[in-house]
Amino acid sequence: MRKYTSVHDVADLDQLVKEAQHLKANPYKYKTLGENRTLGLIFLNPSLRTRLSTQKAGQNLGMNVIVMNLDKEGWALETQEGAVMNGTTVEHIKEAAAVMGQYCDIIGIRSFPKLQNREEDYSEELLNQFIKYSQKPIVSLESATRHPLQSLADLLTIKENAVAGKRPKVVLSWAPHIKPIPQCVANSFAEWMGQADVDLVITHPEGYELAGEFTKNATVTTNQEAALQGADFVYVKNWSSYTEYGQVLTDGEGWMLTNEKLKETNNAKVMHCLPVRRNVELSDEILDGPSSLVLEQANNRTYAAQAVLKRMLEAL
Ligand code: CP
Repeated sequence: MRKYTSVHDVADLDQLVKEAQHLKANPYKYKTLGENRTLGLIFLNPSLRTRLSTQKAGQNLGMNVIVMNLDKEGWALETQEGAVMNGTTVEHIKEAAAVMGQYCDIIGIRSFPKLQNREEDYSEELLNQFIKYSQKPIVSLESATRHPLQSLADLLTIKENAVAGKRPKVVLSWAPHIKPIPQCVANSFAEWMGQADVDLVITHPEGYELAGEFTKNATVTTNQEAALQGADFVYVKNWSSYTEYGQVLTDGEGWMLTNEKLKETNNAKVMHCLPVRRNVELSDEILDGPSSLVLEQANNRTYAAQAVLKRMLEAL
């Protein structure tokens, strides 16, 4: 594997999930695979889970791991081709990515969308430039449009908690938030579930439709109560509007999941990628109760990352 930016980079989804399960049971089995190999983790945005779990995954495989908060510790990056750099940017991505490629065998990069210009964000310019100029295998640690390591961990969590022999009903339920949040986790989750052995229903208020390329295999409804009927898993997530790009269109009153709403489901397990704003996106009663899988999801981030890094190391 040379690139891990979406589900489309995975030829055999079931096998990758099985590999993550195997690594969860045997985290140090491939301790020598990454010997004398360097993993560079580059962050242009904050992170707790992605940073620590991917660092741990690399270390479990015996890799040296370098982490850099490029937004705070690096030079201001220029991404425009042909730019006259007489303004605030100090270093062009052409040199920055190429230099990192010299220091690292595999590079992970996190860069959020700016939520101002949809075309610009959805072009994934920064991620694609890193792929082009670093000349090294690239793992997305969350990009403008997707969060594939999160989605693999989510699928692993669903497989581990699903009732054997039953195709689970999975509901992606929009939740309120106080500020504009990217669509990437929701896009990515919908795209991955669309390739998995599940029935996916997406529910959100009017105006929060995700881009059609991510929801091809989903049923979409603005009726949350109907969506929750018989659900086995409810994935709670806020996102800002895609159609009125980056806008918050409603305060979302009535959309927060509660134990009362869960009565409509098939004793559904509740998921969230974290960080979560308690009692805004999800209630204390759910997060502190038996239906919550949020910590299992976070734990599975390590083995999702380890499965991807293992494949990349094997292909070096
Ligand atoms: N879920 C997730 O990506 O968490 P962080 O932003 O803390 O990495």
